[in-house]
Amino acid sequence: MTERPGIKVFPSTGELVKAAAEEMIGTINRAIGERGECFVALSGGETPRTAYRILGSAPLKNLVEWDYVHFFFGDERAVPPDSPQSNFGMVNLELFSRISIPPENIHRISGEKEALAASEEYERKLRHFSGDGGLRFDLVLLGLGEDGHTASLFPRTDAVTAKGFLVRPVFVPRFDAWRITLTLECINNARRAMFLVAGKPKAVMARRILAGGRPDPEMPASLVSLQEGEILWMLDREAASLLG
Ligand code: 6PG
Repeated sequence: MTERPGIKVFPSTGELVKAAAEEMIGTINRAIGERGECFVALSGGETPRTAYRILGSAPLKNLVEWDYVHFFFGDERAVPPDSPQSNFGMVNLELFSRISIPPENIHRISGEKEALAASEEYERKLRHFSGDGGLRFDLVLLGLGEDGHTASLFPRTDAVTAKGFLVRPVFVPRFDAWRITLTLECINNARRAMFLVAGKPKAVMARRILAGGRPDPEMPASLVSLQEGEILWMLDREAASLLG
C-alpha cells in the first residue's frame, strides 16, 4: 500500500475493500469510545458491496457493539427496498442481515415513495438526529462515478448547489430516473469521509480530482470538503494508475 496524505492505494480491489472494512471498524469503535454512539452514512454502488460483506462476516462483525451504531444512507434510488436497484436492499443482504443490530438503528430512505416526499421525510429524520452543530456523521462512505458524481450528486443537477437542505430529490437524465441524495452541506459536516474507488474506468476522474485541481461543480465529488473532518481516498492500483 502506498500512502499520501488522505490517499491510500492498494494493489488490488480485494485488498482495497478489505482495508475499507477495517477502516470502518476503526472509525466506528473510535466514535463509540468518544461519544457512545456512531452515525454512519453508507454508499450504494458495486465497489462497497464486498466491503459490506466483509464487515458483516467474522472476524470483523464481532469487533463492534452494533447496538451503538446507527446506519443511514448517502443516497437511494427511487425504487422499493426489494428492488435489485435498491441501495438499502444491497446493504441489507450484505451487512444488516448478518449482524445483530436493532432494526430501529437502520434508517433507510423510503425509495418506494415519490422522491420529493421521501426526501422531505428523510430530512425530518436527519434533523431529529441533529445536535447543536447540526447533523454530524462520524463517517460518510462515498463512491466516485466516471462523470465525477458522488452519492447521487450528479453534475448539472440542482442537488449539487442546494442550500439549507440535508437531503434533496434529484432527477438523473442519464438514467431517466429519480434519486434521493444527501446534500454537500450535509456531507461536508461529517467528521470523516471515505471514498472507495476501484477500476480503470475511474482513473481519469480520480486524477482530475486528486491532481490538485480546483473544486469544480462539473465534478461534484471534488466539492466534498469537510469543514472539520478528514477525507480518506482509498483506491485500487487501476483507479490510481494516472495519479503518478
Ligand atoms: C449509488 C452510489 C453512487 C456510486 C457511484 C460509484 O447509489 O450508486 O451512491 O454514487 O457510489 O456511482 O458506483 P460503483 O462503486 O458501482 O462504481
